[in-house]
Amino acid sequence: MSIWNFAGRWGAPAPEFAVTMGEGNTPLVRSTTIGRVLGLENLWFKYEGGNPTGSYKDRFAAAAVAHLRAMGKSACLGTSSGNTGAALAAYCARGGLSCHLAIVEGAPESKLRQMRAYGAHLHRIQDFGKSPAVNEAVMTGLRELAQELDAGFEVSAFVHSPLGMAGVKTLGYEIADALAGDPFVVFSPTGGGGLTLAVARAVAESGGTGRVNCVQPAGNDTIATALWTGSNRAVAVESTTTISGLQVGSVLDGHDVIAACRQQGGTGYTVADDVVLDWQARLAREEGIFCEPACAVSMAGVAAALEAGELDPSENIVCLITGVGFKDEQSLAKMAGTKPTSLLPTFADFSAAVRAAL
Ligand SMILES: Cc1ncc(COP(=O)(O)O)c(C=O)c1O
Repeated sequence: MSIWNFAGRWGAPAPEFAVTMGEGNTPLVRSTTIGRVLGLENLWFKYEGGNPTGSYKDRFAAAAVAHLRAMGKSACLGTSSGNTGAALAAYCARGGLSCHLAIVEGAPESKLRQMRAYGAHLHRIQDFGKSPAVNEAVMTGLRELAQELDAGFEVSAFVHSPLGMAGVKTLGYEIADALAGDPFVVFSPTGGGGLTLAVARAVAESGGTGRVNCVQPAGNDTIATALWTGSNRAVAVESTTTISGLQVGSVLDGHDVIAACRQQGGTGYTVADDVVLDWQARLAREEGIFCEPACAVSMAGVAAALEAGELDPSENIVCLITGVGFKDEQSLAKMAGTKPTSLLPTFADFSAAVRAAL
């Protein structure tokens, strides 16, 4: 199984252009602890960390690179806050394209190392990801450069790369198929909104038993409050969140996210960065779910909805856990500490330590 099993639904190019490593078909795992503690009977995690590069962006890159191959491109220009870059770098490496990436200023070094390992060419740009004006300039410049060089231009947003983003819809198909006809609500961590829009569109296409809520860090509130307050327009902001992957102050797919979520009865929530980091640690310790901070935004959104009295405790609630914990070393150090593991002189010291801890 991979996103190619849904090829007819997302409009894949001919199979000879496929570049695949078994992306997608990820597990939907039931909560063992947090759901019970919060009084939620059917809390689920859609765990994307097992994708080939460790995030759901492989669904995007597999589709995007296949289309670039079908168009005869030999190079790909793209932007990334981290995970898109790793995914594009890997799928370009596999598909025989060179990959050149404009990276947001705040991308964690661990994500950059992964991109370099695949042989991509990386360039961080000052204030990219923070300032809407710089974002605009980079997008416009990159699109023009790609045209001039006859290269592909890939940004993980429908407004720029609809063919690649169609691959992300498979995430929504998998959830809708797994919950087969039962009502459900998805909490989606949102930066520029492409992920949320892809899932909302796929859920709508799959028969309309689900709705999608958009959750954003308060420091990148382009869509969530607008959706919650009834506005139709997303707003560009100076992004101040520390949550990597969600530092996207531009509107990108924002207006369409509002329309798609609202049509299904979905809404928006904002959450504080420190609350997100607490949920990241709780997911690891109480559920065994090892994720990067962006994913814990979805769980923080569930808690916010519950606190607002806007969740039915018996309905199916799905958190999108979009990337693996290794992606962000800084948050990992915060969760696990930086003190080296002690070296014990003998096994007797180990058994004494175990007895003392039990
Ligand atoms: C792990 C993770 N989750 C969620 C998102 C949000 O995606 P979008 O910008 O399409 O809203 C990203 C984007 O980079 C991400 O890396």
